[in-house]
Amino acid sequence: MKLDGQIAAVIRPPEALFAGISNRRSISTVMLVVVFVMASCAMSSPAQENGRLALTPPMGWNDWAHYQCGFTADDILANAQALVKSGLSSHGYNTVTIDDCWMQKARDSAGNLQVDPKRFPRGMKAVADAVHGLGLRFGIYEDAGYLTCGGFAGSGVPKGGGKDHFLQDARLFASWGVDYLKLDGCNVYVPPGETQEAAYRQAYAAQAAALKEVGRPIVFSESAPAYFQGSPEWYDVLGWVGGYGQLWREGTDVKVFHPKKPDASRFDSILWNYAYNLPLARWQKPGNWNDADFIIAGDSGTTAAESRTQLALWAMMSAPLILSSDLRKLDSSSIAILSNPSVLAIDQDPLGQSASLIRRTPTVDILFKRLKSGEFATAVSNHGADTARVELHPSDLGFSGSDGCRLEFENLWNGKRQSTASIQAEVEAHDTEIWRVHAGSACGAPKRVGTIILTENEQKHDFGFEGYTRCLSSQGTATACTGSSSETWVVGTAGSLRSGDSCLAVASGKAIMQKCSANPAQHWTWTQAGQLRQGPNQCLTGAHSGLTLQPCGHNLVDQVWSLPSR
Ligand code: GAL
Repeated sequence: MKLDGQIAAVIRPPEALFAGISNRRSISTVMLVVVFVMASCAMSSPAQENGRLALTPPMGWNDWAHYQCGFTADDILANAQALVKSGLSSHGYNTVTIDDCWMQKARDSAGNLQVDPKRFPRGMKAVADAVHGLGLRFGIYEDAGYLTCGGFAGSGVPKGGGKDHFLQDARLFASWGVDYLKLDGCNVYVPPGETQEAAYRQAYAAQAAALKEVGRPIVFSESAPAYFQGSPEWYDVLGWVGGYGQLWREGTDVKVFHPKKPDASRFDSILWNYAYNLPLARWQKPGNWNDADFIIAGDSGTTAAESRTQLALWAMMSAPLILSSDLRKLDSSSIAILSNPSVLAIDQDPLGQSASLIRRTPTVDILFKRLKSGEFATAVSNHGADTARVELHPSDLGFSGSDGCRLEFENLWNGKRQSTASIQAEVEAHDTEIWRVHAGSACGAPKRVGTIILTENEQKHDFGFEGYTRCLSSQGTATACTGSSSETWVVGTAGSLRSGDSCLAVASGKAIMQKCSANPAQHWTWTQAGQLRQGPNQCLTGAHSGLTLQPCGHNLVDQVWSLPSR
């Protein structure tokens, strides 16, 4: 608290900050002390433990979703200052990243990137120094192609072939003190005879090698998967990005702020990014994060309920929390939501699990997640237009249904604690309740319980959140989720899939429900690519017409299943 007060006292306008940096003698002793304390806090962050980067989901701020290309160095620094002054940085939002449009379209005669002098009259190092001077980390955007998405100079192989600039650019970034690189994937040159996926893989591998060579710890955010969303190669790309970087964008951008339509709702876009991110839980672990895109909570186009929903859902998924709004304009209730320490602790939990989808009705999602402490988090998210009333029993979350099982629920928005056999919640329209759950000893360890879902091959959120997911039902179907108990499955340790008293099995080439037993026909192998396999090459296939067993294909849309997390 005391530190916050000191920091607030030294916040100055952006120009003054530059002046302070160019004439170091003018910086007061207080400023130096504060900067030293803050910088050492940042350095000792668990995000860089044992030389491994981003062991918890990265947090910070990026200009894109609010400004797009309409920013200058002063906007960046004003937001960096607001991050500190609002207290958000002390809650972990510690990296300020400049997105596209900071560079010129052409390189100089030595092949170096050139900063746009109109936006950055003092160059980029001065901005990086000022950001570091606030005790924050500094991030930058580049692109794996020959041009960025905005048409500026990219780091990748030139159009038609030639030498890339990954190493040259990485050296430049390191000389500026860059701590975080977002590498987008527009305009990647695909040589004749090569697949698009191979070209992307080469580019991202080259960037990872370049970062290694320059030797500075730089968190690497990869946008590669987003360029394959909706195709079978999506899962192939998700299979290799974790070997090169710490986080990756998998899909559509969250809806950006539009000054001409400031009040246009952005809630559908939040839901859509949540919808496609949640089923990808199996790719995630500490140091490797699915990135559901920016936190726009608190910005125009989001209500307080919707802001709580975005933060709670992102926290349940352990998604990176990268704010992208005009932080100077956030009201105090939005800042309170974004800095709720209990919700942030769920996001930053060291286990790094993404939530399991316990149940999905047409308007309500129930999520559950294990925490490192042995406790759990659960959330009820209501995207419908009416208040939802929900009652959760221990057995719904996979605990023993015995009478002695009591759960202690702490509501993370208001701190209220309840110790009960079940919890009843009223969740307002577009809002999300989130609890930390402590299970009494009679509850036992929770079973691996929840929905088993398929997703559609769709890239655009106009397809709608509701239509994206289909639920496996013990009725022998994989159709729109209803929330019925036939859509609840327990995944057994030996690969059984139980719903109610029966298990999913194969008999005469068909998928049927039968009495649970040790029958090998009830043993399913779930692969990293999401297939539920029986025998050497048979896959559970959730056609719209019903469940069948078919030869396994290459990430076929009817054969990629998401199961509850372990
Ligand atoms: C998109 C990316 C956005 C932003 C933009 C810049 O591809 O998803 O987050 O970086 O490019 O042009």
